[in-house]
Amino acid sequence: MDYSLEEAARRIARARHLVAFTGAGISAESGIPTFRGPGGIWDKYDPQVLELDFFLRNYDRVWPVIKDMFYTVIHKAEPNPAHYTLADWEKRGLLKAVITQNIDNLHQKAGSRNVIEYHGNTRQAVCLDCGRTVPLTEEILSQQVPRCPHCGGRLKPDFVFFGEPIPPEAARKALEHTLRSDVYLVIGTTGIIIPASLLPYEAKRNGATVIEVNLHPSEYTGKITDIFLQGKAGEILPALAKETEKFLPSSN
Ligand code: APR
Ligand code: ZN
Repeated sequence: MDYSLEEAARRIARARHLVAFTGAGISAESGIPTFRGPGGIWDKYDPQVLELDFFLRNYDRVWPVIKDMFYTVIHKAEPNPAHYTLADWEKRGLLKAVITQNIDNLHQKAGSRNVIEYHGNTRQAVCLDCGRTVPLTEEILSQQVPRCPHCGGRLKPDFVFFGEPIPPEAARKALEHTLRSDVYLVIGTTGIIIPASLLPYEAKRNGATVIEVNLHPSEYTGKITDIFLQGKAGEILPALAKETEKFLPSSN
């Protein structure tokens, strides 16, 4: 396993189909708590609240908890240099797709366009009674227990609950980019939640170079990671971008 920023930059600059696979760690420096690790969401909340049948049976009790877990903090969060680096690489045609496990919309806020939201999003909800898709506006989220503005029905956030399938279109696009990838950036994820966490293994099996950016070793490190860049994503990605410039054909 290599630890060299220069080697990672060289691979990125020469990549034919660079893909970034991101987890909660990329948003940590934007003030969004990760799920695991010190101060993680699962230290504070019982994962049961994200089990679909528990949510449906305890609708009035769970919604305020979910708002506290996600919506309040996501609403205030801004992208950090890691998100902006990926958005810039996409604009310049270097990065082909971001596959994210995150539901915080920060990749889009940073300007990324081709963002595959493997676990859905927090922008909207689906009404379980009239079936409409409802944008989660401040007005709806200000209700103690959000209800459908059309029929007063119960709203299910549009992110993937435990026990729910991955949105089929996201699953298809994510696998397609993963199998086409020759350089696969894995940023800020423990690599333990399936099926999302299986994607880097698919990339590796298909011959991609796996470059991992993480504060700590993950399930991938020492197994499929070719280059491990340890540290904060918000610091490493801009440094990697600077180093990559050296290997890119000069713009003039
Ligand atoms: N920079 C880079 N990596 C970081 C940083 C940082 N500033 N801070 C934390 N990390 C790393 C941690 O070392 C850890 O490996 O980010 C990872 C966060 O791990 P998790 O909280 O488990 O997040 P993630 O892997 O995205 O979880 C996957 O689990 O609960 C489900 O659906 C939820 O999408 C989530 C999935
Ligand atoms: Zn409705």
